[in-house]
Amino acid sequence: MKKVEMIIRPEKLEEVKELLNELQIHGMTTTMVSGCGNQKGRKKIYRGTEFSMNLLPKVKVETVVHDEIVNELITKVAEAVRTGEVGDGKIFVYNVEQALKIRTGERNEEAL
Ligand SMILES: Nc1ncnc2c1ncn2[C@@H]1O[C@H](COP(=O)(O)OP(=O)(O)OP(=O)(O)O)[C@@H](O)[C@H]1O
Ligand SMILES: [Mg+2]
Repeated sequence: MKKVEMIIRPEKLEEVKELLNELQIHGMTTTMVSGCGNQKGRKKIYRGTEFSMNLLPKVKVETVVHDEIVNELITKVAEAVRTGEVGDGKIFVYNVEQALKIRTGERNEEAL
């Protein structure tokens, strides 16, 4: 199992939800976050050495899925949310050691 963490533009959330549904991925957690990347939160390419970081609103979407779907998922999400402008976001993939579905006691893949 892998956890796929996608940090995207808030206006792209609906597209990601539709895509997950198409891929039969029905469990997700979303969080409103704020962050910055290489431009330190400036909206254009920025080469200054200013110290301060500006944090821009993003949405973090997390889903735990079978290993086999990860490549398709991240490829399709990246295609769906890319604008080509700075700030399009990032996707991180983590190993998940265990899952337990509380209602039934099912474990791991069965718990997804
Ligand atoms: N290394 C990182 N670790 C954790 N979160 C990150 C990292 N880089 C970016 N993020 C998160 O992703 C959001 C979007 O990052 P962004 O797309 O601007 O990255 P970037 O590296 O600056 O790429 P680009 O040059 O295309 O803008 C940030 O606001 C932050 O929330
Ligand atoms: Mg950036």
